[in-house]
Amino acid sequence: MTDQPTATDQPETRPHVPELPRVIQGGMGIAVSDWRLARTVCLHGGLGVVSGTGIDTVLLRRLQDGDPGGEVRRALAVFPNPALAQACLERYFRPEGRAPGEAYARLPMPTAERYRDAWEMTLLGAFVEVTLAREGHDRPVGLNLLTKLQLHTLPALYGAMLAGVGTVIMGAGIPRDIPGILDSFAAGRPASLRVDVRGGEGLTLTLDPADFDLRPDPLVRPAFYPIVSSHVLAGVLARKASGPVQGFIVEGPTAGGHNAPPRGPLTLDDRGQPVYGERDEVDLPAMRALGLPFWLAGGCGTPGALRDALAAGAAGIQVGTLFAFAQESGLRADLKADVLTRAQAGSLDVFTDPLASPTGFPFKVVTLPGTLSQPEVYAARERVCDLGYLREAYRTDSGRVGWRCPAEPVAAYESKGGAAADTPGRKCLCNALMADAGYAQVQRGGRTEPGLLTSGDGLGALRDWTPGYGAADVLRVLHG
Ligand SMILES: Cc1cc2nc3c(=O)[nH]c(=O)nc-3n(C[C@H](O)[C@H](O)[C@H](O)COP(=O)(O)O)c2cc1C
Ligand code: SF4
Repeated sequence: MTDQPTATDQPETRPHVPELPRVIQGGMGIAVSDWRLARTVCLHGGLGVVSGTGIDTVLLRRLQDGDPGGEVRRALAVFPNPALAQACLERYFRPEGRAPGEAYARLPMPTAERYRDAWEMTLLGAFVEVTLAREGHDRPVGLNLLTKLQLHTLPALYGAMLAGVGTVIMGAGIPRDIPGILDSFAAGRPASLRVDVRGGEGLTLTLDPADFDLRPDPLVRPAFYPIVSSHVLAGVLARKASGPVQGFIVEGPTAGGHNAPPRGPLTLDDRGQPVYGERDEVDLPAMRALGLPFWLAGGCGTPGALRDALAAGAAGIQVGTLFAFAQESGLRADLKADVLTRAQAGSLDVFTDPLASPTGFPFKVVTLPGTLSQPEVYAARERVCDLGYLREAYRTDSGRVGWRCPAEPVAAYESKGGAAADTPGRKCLCNALMADAGYAQVQRGGRTEPGLLTSGDGLGALRDWTPGYGAADVLRVLHG
């Protein structure tokens, strides 16, 4: 494993400027872009990016499944607060794995007053993921987080920085606070994040490394690339973020995962998908004028698209879908095989669902049998909120901070002041995406959580790839 970076490697808070890659493997949650995929991409000349979304739960579920390859324990063994790592192992590691049908033990859902457990496990989870992705090479590794999921952001960033993450990439929101947070952590100082609270005053959370008995030494300051869908937002972030940004991912509406909503009033096509128009096209000359490197994402997974991107002044491309179905990705092998077989037959479709995600952002859904994309599977699932990553904070009548999600049981959502009209069609992405990665919860009555796959609109292009292809094949083809 490579050495952890320290103050002697880098001067205080100076952003680490990695050699610019032509191909960035998109961060894909939950655990689709896991350490195995990211490491393989790095070994073959791309920027491998791990997902930090839900990484505390991923860590605990891997341990409860027995950590068969021993990788998680290997990484935990070098965590700089050994007592914290040991306590996690004692509580969650199950050498024999779980009994068939046994539910995973899970953390209490964090709140504004009680988040210590979630933060500890997020620190450990992000550290493990980046440590493993960095093994055996010296190339930078990236971390992807969703801006909207604010409660776990600070420990995910700090845990990844302790492991020497080289780049942080964040979209799904406006990550204005993040550069300053990276600067503070790099300098060994505590950092704070303002959490949005609907209907009232926001909430400020602070992570002080000393509270976790972690060394306050300076660390490498990772490069920060926000994901943007417009040059205007890129300009705002370049000028007015809390610290410097080093580049941008410019993501179009064909990309997998969450998409930025269309600009202007929402109109839907005859299938019920948001309609994007000229106003949603990014002005590439304006991007170039910002003077920072940028990568184009969304349907860019071909050598021709890479050439076009370079010709347009981009540093390269970010690719998701092709890597999501490569053999090293964290997607469950049976789901991957099913999608690849159906892609060969041309029988799969991708629907840009304006309702599925509790965040309110459009979310791309693969219409795969057996998943929540099918009305009967969705209708048969009993609503339960037990992971809580997508809850929004709101001010209660008494001025406290409450948490609610439109995919939780409708009565509970209404009792928290949520509108019943916001609940139809919402999908529990926390549980579904855990299921996609092989960590499905077993709920009351022995019911196993179904999955819900996302992919870019370019899923059909998978028909050109032989099932079992690897990330190295993708990079070889893209690099031409
Ligand atoms: C399965 C899957 C999961 C994704 N999850 C995330 C995510 O958690 N965060 C994020 O910023 N982007 C996510 N994305 C978007 C990718 O990082 C990337 O930008 C996008 O896939 C590029 O477009 P393409 O799919 O057409 O290659 C996801 C994409 C896929 C296919
Ligand atoms: S209802 Fe589901 S999607 Fe919403 S926060 Fe709870 S666990 Fe996550």
